Amino acid sequence: MNKSDVIKHILGERYLLPPVHQTATAFAPTNIALVKYWGKRNSELNLPMTSSLSISLADKGAEVTLSVHDKTHDSIMLNNQSIDPASAFAKRFSQFLDGFRKKSYFHADIHTTIPIAAGLASSACGFASLVCALNKLYDWNLSLTSLSILARLGSGSACRSLWQGFVEWHEGSCVDGMDSHGKVLAEQWPELCVGLLIMSTAEKNRSSREAMQQTVATSALYSAWPQKVVHDLGVVKQAIQSHDFSSLGAAAESNALTMHATMLSAWPAILYSLPDTVFAMQKIWKLRDEGLSIYFTQDAGPNVKLLFLEKDIAVIKNHFPHVEVIKPFQN
Ligand code: PMV
Repeated sequence: MNKSDVIKHILGERYLLPPVHQTATAFAPTNIALVKYWGKRNSELNLPMTSSLSISLADKGAEVTLSVHDKTHDSIMLNNQSIDPASAFAKRFSQFLDGFRKKSYFHADIHTTIPIAAGLASSACGFASLVCALNKLYDWNLSLTSLSILARLGSGSACRSLWQGFVEWHEGSCVDGMDSHGKVLAEQWPELCVGLLIMSTAEKNRSSREAMQQTVATSALYSAWPQKVVHDLGVVKQAIQSHDFSSLGAAAESNALTMHATMLSAWPAILYSLPDTVFAMQKIWKLRDEGLSIYFTQDAGPNVKLLFLEKDIAVIKNHFPHVEVIKPFQN
């Protein structure tokens, strides 16, 4: 089973028909995992070793406008800058589109409200917005579940970016991955805030794909990861239901630190943190010791995402003047 088998299965008789419209625009939010996806059981289809759970970041994400043009290659503008067709970004983009077309080429105009490739899940909102734009351009009328499966083929975490709010990605067990997709949770938590602490917007030198592969292949700690995820998922889901913020924060922080511990014990070791990342963690732990209810999570990059409640926004801004506060449930 490869990517095109999955696409054929989902599109049926719509597979490789020409686009119905000239142009289509779609937006998808980025998402931050509270319980991380780390490790694949199938790297062609991005099927995960475990389930994961995220929160989408409202209007932080990517908007893509796809227009059919008569050239024989794609062209891409990213945040008003033209992308070199020979770049890794352009190749990954066009290869993904190749799975859906016979001979159409596109101009893509992408606008993001988050830094690209800095561990802020830009590929997640990128691929999710792309499949939504394709769905409109080709009039596929696919369900969000089917779009989630297609987005996963571009980047695993993209399958959680089809919805706002809390989203669980069920690992599934089918070899074709038809049961491995996002599912939105009904619970809302209006007081919950995420704070972005940007240490660096530079492109990371190791993709999450490579880092995952290396961790699974060489880390002695990786065997403990699946059980840790099962435990943390249980705690986080319960905490969401009962709005128990300290349980949610502690489980999310511990989950992120365990993921980074598996990377640190890979060989060669993988360390995304910068000195400023460690500085922020120590400051968070100190503030927590002093009674402030603040937790963090970190993805495949140096930036730290704070978790706190609305009532503490002023105090948090005081301690972290550059923080960008997002209220995922208040648009
Ligand atoms: O979907 P990818 O290949 O960008 O991997 C995402 C990995 C993490 O951000 C570290 C964890 C997650 O669940 O989003």
